[in-house]
Amino acid sequence: MSRAVHMPDPAAPLGVFDSGVGGLSVLRALRAHLPRENLIFVADQGHIPYGPRPLAEVREFSEAIVRFLLAEGAKLIVVACNTASAAALAHLRQTFPNVAFVGMEPAVKPAAETTQTGVVGVIATRATFQGELYASVVERFAQDVRVLQSTCPGLVEEIEAGNTDGVEARRILEAALTPMLAENIDAVVLGCTHYPFVERLVREIAGEGVRIIEPSEAIARRTEWLLQEHGLETPNRAEGWTRGLTTGQAQALSDQMRRLIGVTVEGEDLIWAEEGKLTYGS
Ligand code: DGL
Repeated sequence: MSRAVHMPDPAAPLGVFDSGVGGLSVLRALRAHLPRENLIFVADQGHIPYGPRPLAEVREFSEAIVRFLLAEGAKLIVVACNTASAAALAHLRQTFPNVAFVGMEPAVKPAAETTQTGVVGVIATRATFQGELYASVVERFAQDVRVLQSTCPGLVEEIEAGNTDGVEARRILEAALTPMLAENIDAVVLGCTHYPFVERLVREIAGEGVRIIEPSEAIARRTEWLLQEHGLETPNRAEGWTRGLTTGQAQALSDQMRRLIGVTVEGEDLIWAEEGKLTYGS
């Protein structure tokens, strides 16, 4: 348990992290919904993808990133990654009991509530499906509904490489969605924060009759609610700043942020130090 008392300053930034550019789909919603808040975004692109990794390893990375963000003064942490939430959210809440976290869980609830066919699909990483969080979401919200699951191996890498409209991304999504469509799903849950960047492909493959459920707006609203609850809304009057830090290539992250969400930042380098700590570096 972390003994340091976390006494956040409302003027402090929100800390947001993911394995890579997936977190930008959440960052975009936070920027739009909470324009005066300052945001620090960490992408652990040196370790991407998280999805095929053991949960324990993703938990270690997540804890180290949270320690870094708290040391940078973050007042609240948004785990903008379904995989890291599956692997680490409960552990993070236990380790940092004074810190407010917003995590991601596949949005099975809205899918189950609105389905007409009684069959819904979820696409997410292998680790997300292995986590207890997913099992509990299905158990709580989808008792009377068939929930079909599929991983999309290789899709995160395609999105990271900027191939959001490419032949390979389409092939991966077709392989995941075609069997679900054959079972008559009428909703598909994007259970990985990278996938909103291929939403157009999902729409083309699934057709107009299938609802695509993308949770980033709901995450932004939840973040706003928690800030209010803890008295942590920013006193800033002007638009907040955004920083982007990566364990991959800083310049590449700047380019990705501009291209994917239209945010211009000077990417900053982070490195994993020997003892599993994140530090500034190049
Ligand atoms: N963006 C992530 C998620 O929401 C993880 C992708 C990955 O690194 O495999 O699950």
